Amino acid sequence: MNTAEAAGAAAVASARHDDILVVTIDNPPVNALGVDVRRGLMEAIEAADADPAVKAVVLLGAGRNFLGGADIREFGKPPQAPALPDVCNRIEACSKPVVAAIHGAALGGGLEVALGAHYRVALANARLGLPEVLLGLLPGAGGTQRTPRLIGAAAALELMLSGRHIGAREALKLGLVDKVEEGDDPVAAGLAYARELIASNAAPRRTSEGTALADRPATQAAIDAARADTGKKARGLFSPLKIVDAVQGALDLPFLEGLALERTLFLACLDSPQRAGLVHAFFAEREAAKAPETRSAQPREVNSVGIVGGGTMGAGIAVAVLDAGLPVVMIERDEEALARGRANVEKVYDGLIAKGRIKPEAKEAIMNRWSGSTAYDALSQVDLVIEAVFEDMAVKQAVFKELDRVCKPGAVLATNTSYLDIDQIAASITRPQDVIGLHFFSPANIMKLLEIVVPAKVAADVVATAFELAKKLKKTAVRAGVCDGFIGNRVLAVYGQAAQMMMEDGASPYQIDKAVRGFGYPMGPFQVSDLAGGDIGWATRKRRAATRDPQARYVQIPDRLCERGWFGQKTGRGYYLYPDGARVGTPDPEVEAIIDAERRRAGVTPKTFTDEEIVRRYLAAMINEGANVVDQKIALRPLDVDVTFVHGYGFPRYRGGPMHYADTVGLDKILADIQEFAKEDPLFWKPSPLLVDLVARGANFASLNK
Ligand code: 3HC
Ligand code: NAI
Repeated sequence: MNTAEAAGAAAVASARHDDILVVTIDNPPVNALGVDVRRGLMEAIEAADADPAVKAVVLLGAGRNFLGGADIREFGKPPQAPALPDVCNRIEACSKPVVAAIHGAALGGGLEVALGAHYRVALANARLGLPEVLLGLLPGAGGTQRTPRLIGAAAALELMLSGRHIGAREALKLGLVDKVEEGDDPVAAGLAYARELIASNAAPRRTSEGTALADRPATQAAIDAARADTGKKARGLFSPLKIVDAVQGALDLPFLEGLALERTLFLACLDSPQRAGLVHAFFAEREAAKAPETRSAQPREVNSVGIVGGGTMGAGIAVAVLDAGLPVVMIERDEEALARGRANVEKVYDGLIAKGRIKPEAKEAIMNRWSGSTAYDALSQVDLVIEAVFEDMAVKQAVFKELDRVCKPGAVLATNTSYLDIDQIAASITRPQDVIGLHFFSPANIMKLLEIVVPAKVAADVVATAFELAKKLKKTAVRAGVCDGFIGNRVLAVYGQAAQMMMEDGASPYQIDKAVRGFGYPMGPFQVSDLAGGDIGWATRKRRAATRDPQARYVQIPDRLCERGWFGQKTGRGYYLYPDGARVGTPDPEVEAIIDAERRRAGVTPKTFTDEEIVRRYLAAMINEGANVVDQKIALRPLDVDVTFVHGYGFPRYRGGPMHYADTVGLDKILADIQEFAKEDPLFWKPSPLLVDLVARGANFASLNK
């Protein structure tokens, strides 16, 4: 036996229970279908077919899941036989009934294996789905052909195009599984079903022969509708339309020809840069959550959370914490502000009730975990406090002094500051080892990103606690160092400045937004400013006016708009006009006139920019500052910058993040661009030493992710 066979044997084990062969896939952590599992499955089915004493087969996964899908780490490497579609076909061809007993995740190729089986029983905790689209792929092991034949084109397309996970009960309703069982023992559930099938002499029932596409006109209508909808929604994405093509093949072609079409389309997706970007994002967000402190220290226990401030952020954070099942104690300045804080929280749940997403009773149960006070003593027993008061050092230090006075020893004291020096906040109290930054993004109950900002004196177990809390709140955590703006806002300040310089130099804000959207962002920078409120940036600019480098270029156009009270959507106009509360703005000729006047005042002769040049400058600024942030160890690795921008700033996920994108363009090209732009403004366009070094060594950002 060679080593591969030995490993295969370990990944898949077969055991006889009377006349039933139980085949267990055991490939931690999620039973991905790597080559050893594929080989093991082939051998197990061959053995079952060859053994006259075996009357039925049960397939199941060891540990917490059935099968987590194809082994994503194998993508881009030379393929090794047997291919997963062949494994699924072999299972389906088995002459004896094969039951898939599903618990935990049955995703992607994992669900396709279950569809290759003849019968499916799911435990109540099962999560099923075809999430390949989220990795830039399509179900490539028969999923595009078997799923529509089993549950119809409309339901299959919805599953494949959304990539969402569904529970066992929904899967039963759709016809994706035959039975749902309570309990947590897939062996018992699988054996019981197999015994039933043997007793009733049930024959193998092959999904490839399913008849759910029999109504041709209805199927064609479902495919046409999905195609039209996808064309509208899948901005720039490659694989969704290929999924629709594959389902068209399921309708038009015999099964084996449909499979061949699926293979061709799958390989095209596999080769696409979008697949590489999405897979990078998948691994990067998991890697980002593994800060060194999560390995070296045990998190402190967090069973209750205090929140100081019930404004935009405090209320959003409260919702995130309440949703995770934890109690919240909110502190505000006075009774009136506290009532507003509570109302801000309730508003979120009322919105969900209005949309039918939760029942009023659910809101009541959640709000029972909320309590509020104007006295800090109410925080004496909480395990962790998040401060979200005004962005002002004196105000924050006063709050931390109170926290120092009332909180129990060992309580974690966190600040949600956007820019302020957390070392300075920590130094102002007697327990700097407990002080950390938890930088949420607005709206805090929705945005996935959480920057965990690590000051010099913080204890490792406090950092570990922050990462654990992020998991509980279902946030994507990134470790950041202390500096002005941490990772995200620091880099944003630089590419925001690049956008403003282009505006003053001749591009309209509308062209810049359009070009940035063309790259894949949902909104351009001026739309974002209008949405967030121009007053926020204005306040920051005024605060920094005294410390600004007088040599550095300062574009005054945003100040001119703010002086007129044009803060964006909330005031009805900003860069765009929002008549009658409109949420989508229209270009404003008066803004263009103001920009023209500012160009004249600054002595700028306007030039034209192509959309391509706008994007090139915007990204060069982002990537260069991203490199500085890594170089100065504010971010641990380039992948941390990627995760920050994908989850907090709308960077198109399919491009992996700015640093991954830079690698795909070529760092030499990015550096050459920066050097070219530096001829106009050497103070702004200073190549990052890290970028220069990587180019000199012929290396890329990915080499620093290892
Ligand atoms: N291949 C390889 N590694 C995988 C994997 C996969 N399919 N799925 C998860 N992993 C790894 C993760 O990278 C992580 O590794 P690490 O510990 O070294 O960081 C580890 O398994 C645990 O993953 P999670 O932290 O995500 O574990 P959870 O318990 O939170 O979630 C899960 C489990 C729901 C299975 C989740 O991991 C997941 O969603 N995985 C991806 C599922 C998927 O997209 N499958 C489709 C793959 S494409 C496909 O099947 C193509 C086919 O059609 C041909
Ligand atoms: P906000 O103005 O909406 O809310 C601040 C709240 O703090 C107010 O309700 C105020 O009454 C309360 N408050 C002020 N002083 C207090 C005190 N001494 N004790 C108790 N409560 C007090 O401000 P917002 O937007 O919620 O910002 C809060 C913090 O979050 C700031 O540090 C900000 O930089 C940061 N932040 C803001 C983001 C945003 O997009 N708004 C994003 C990320 C961080």
